[in-house]
Amino acid sequence: MSAITCSHVDKAYGATSVIRDLNLSIEEHEFVVFLGPSGCGKSTLLRMLAGLEDISGGEVSIGGKVVNDLDPGDRGIAMVFQNYALYPHMTIFDNIAFGLRRQKVPAAEIRKRVEAVSRTLGLEPYLGRKPAELSGGQQQRVAIARAMIKTPKVFLFDEPLSNLDAKLRNHMRVEIARLHQSLKTTTVYVTHDQLEAMTLADRIVLLKEGVIEQVGSPAEIYRRPGNMFVAGFIGTPNMNFIEVTVGRSGNGWTLTGAGTVLSIGGSAFHLQHGDRAVLGIRPPDLKTADAGTAGILQGTADLIEFHGNDALVTFASGGKEISALVPARECPVLHAPVRYTFEEDSIHLFDATSGASLRKQ
Ligand SMILES: Nc1ncnc2c1ncn2[C@@H]1O[C@H](COP(=O)(O)OP(=O)(O)OP(=O)(O)O)[C@@H](O)[C@H]1O
Ligand SMILES: [Mg+2]
Repeated sequence: MSAITCSHVDKAYGATSVIRDLNLSIEEHEFVVFLGPSGCGKSTLLRMLAGLEDISGGEVSIGGKVVNDLDPGDRGIAMVFQNYALYPHMTIFDNIAFGLRRQKVPAAEIRKRVEAVSRTLGLEPYLGRKPAELSGGQQQRVAIARAMIKTPKVFLFDEPLSNLDAKLRNHMRVEIARLHQSLKTTTVYVTHDQLEAMTLADRIVLLKEGVIEQVGSPAEIYRRPGNMFVAGFIGTPNMNFIEVTVGRSGNGWTLTGAGTVLSIGGSAFHLQHGDRAVLGIRPPDLKTADAGTAGILQGTADLIEFHGNDALVTFASGGKEISALVPARECPVLHAPVRYTFEEDSIHLFDATSGASLRKQ
């Protein structure tokens, strides 16, 4: 049985449609990340799962039971928000115990559970302190402890790390991953940070304007993006998109664009002579070409961003700006001529009109 099912779920505020005919199944113990640009409906969808937002149409089930009309408190979920607002005048112990006290759980039982949760999250030394006496990361752990102590069937997280600085965010990300490995509680996690999504998710649900663009494991989404939106959203630095015209050439194909003619076998793609397509190549998939190699992308290095181990080289090929991520030792000097090639299995081709991937299934 699925832990969570959304069936034809709609959400509208007045005439504004925010989520449209959304269908999704989340399995028990799964860690699913809702990812997408600001305003695409991630929080709205999560809040509908939580019961904090009405569902305009369709059905949401949790643990096999339709929950559309069930109060948040009766859904077996616990939610951690970006603004986790601890009670400033209460100790950490009391903050964590708050929900259980409201449920009139006996004091001895509360102590046992607060101690167990605090041990899991490394909060034991701080139980007597007030929130202001903790770091941002420790406070965030208290917010997670407060959710964990309810022993929910499902954890919902809405950008829980976005208030933390970069280092702490990395640290907490690892802690959340560990926590899920040990508790295995079904988790839905909202973020617009693709690194967070890639590192935490069993599956990513990529949303755009209230519609699912693709659902898949981080590797599937990265290697086999189903359309140009997904391809452009995932991967840093961003994928290069080059408009090309497809031509038949012997048993293979030519791609003409960006001032060059590239030859590919093309058997992995649906291609037709004369098609207009968009070639997608990720910057790390461009490789420095040997002198004399034909059918390459070339230009002069207009911009070099040195990263340490590697460097991002930007050049213009036939007027089209292209970036290559190369090992630092292959980094050219500014304004030097550069030449790049690629392995065919690293490229992507999209329909120029619809943006859909031309890859054969
Ligand atoms: N109460 C409301 N009334 C009208 N429109 C709303 C309301 N709440 C949200 N929206 C709209 O719904 C859309 C989705 O909002 P939502 O908060 O779910 O986005 P999000 O993906 O979580 O974005 P972010 O990454 O910025 O948090 C937005 O266009 C937003 O303006
Ligand atoms: Mg949001």
